[in-house]
Amino acid sequence: MRFINTKLLEKDMKLGKSLFDQKGRLLLPEGTCLKDNYIRKIQRLGYNGIYIDDVLSQGITVNDVVDVETRIEAVQVIKGTYSRLERGMYHHLQAAEAQLRTAVDNIVSEILMNNEIMINMVDLKMYDDYTFFHSTNVAVIAVVIGTALGFSRQDLYELCMAGMLHDLGKICIPDAILNKPDRLTDDEMALIQTHPEQGYDVVKKKMNLPTRTYVAILQHHERIDGEGYPEGRTGERITLFARILSIADVYDALTSDRPYRRGWSPSEAVEYILGNCGSAFDRDLVEVFYRKISPYPAGTIVSLNDGRRGIVIRNHEGCGLRPTLKIISRDGKPVDAYLLDLRGDDTSTVVIAKEGVEPN
Ligand SMILES: [Fe+2]
Repeated sequence: MRFINTKLLEKDMKLGKSLFDQKGRLLLPEGTCLKDNYIRKIQRLGYNGIYIDDVLSQGITVNDVVDVETRIEAVQVIKGTYSRLERGMYHHLQAAEAQLRTAVDNIVSEILMNNEIMINMVDLKMYDDYTFFHSTNVAVIAVVIGTALGFSRQDLYELCMAGMLHDLGKICIPDAILNKPDRLTDDEMALIQTHPEQGYDVVKKKMNLPTRTYVAILQHHERIDGEGYPEGRTGERITLFARILSIADVYDALTSDRPYRRGWSPSEAVEYILGNCGSAFDRDLVEVFYRKISPYPAGTIVSLNDGRRGIVIRNHEGCGLRPTLKIISRDGKPVDAYLLDLRGDDTSTVVIAKEGVEPN
């Protein structure tokens, strides 16, 4: 199975994973042969890409960090919570909180059951309904980091809840500013920077959630060097939860398409996080994040600096930039016996030059 950009879909390609809409309804089951009208519909629905099965990707499995149904359920719940708060329907919040607890519990349970798994962000980016998918993605990445740190179930629950609600304060900012394609004015930037405090106030006053959760919401834009906001806290004066959220938040935001820029590739975003460790991000936490991330998820086609092309078949914990590849011949066919483990001594001068390339 491999992930392919929706723009590159062709008739008769075989669907590698079932497709759902934003409400979690099954659109097309795994194994469906794509027809022209299916492709148009997939493109209209705002999928960035989908999984297909073909000769090239035979035998490559892609494991979800969290099931697609669980994620879509979480997205729906966050959407419902935002909308109730936006309309001032505080009397309906208890029901929303109960749904949030269930969604958070489900995410934590699945990650605990899959704790060997690495973060595969391609897999977490199937739609363009940004705010709600972003919140779920941040929660998932944060919980994976928390699991690697040996957090208890209660810690993971509180951290996951903070991830789900970290940008809640954006309900107080006009969409025209949030989605502005041009450069923000100083006043607009100052307004956006109020969202951590706005979110903190709403959650603290209107919801019945743990203190660590709403403090993490308040601090998720702080930086280790004190250059963040709203309080300019430094180092360990920023809570551990907030330091984890800031890595998850920046990584997911950078790899997402936004009205004002194209999303970066996962490997570019990993480089950014590594480049800013010790200034924006906590060095030890970046190390844990780096151990758990797959910048080149299984099924990604890459070109190497020596001109060869390959498809990623396996990722290795702690060595995300050096996966194992199956080399592809010049005519775009896989060379079955030709595996290349980029961690080997004989591949020390070989690096991945480009990802998401075409097989031929
Ligand atoms: Fe934020």
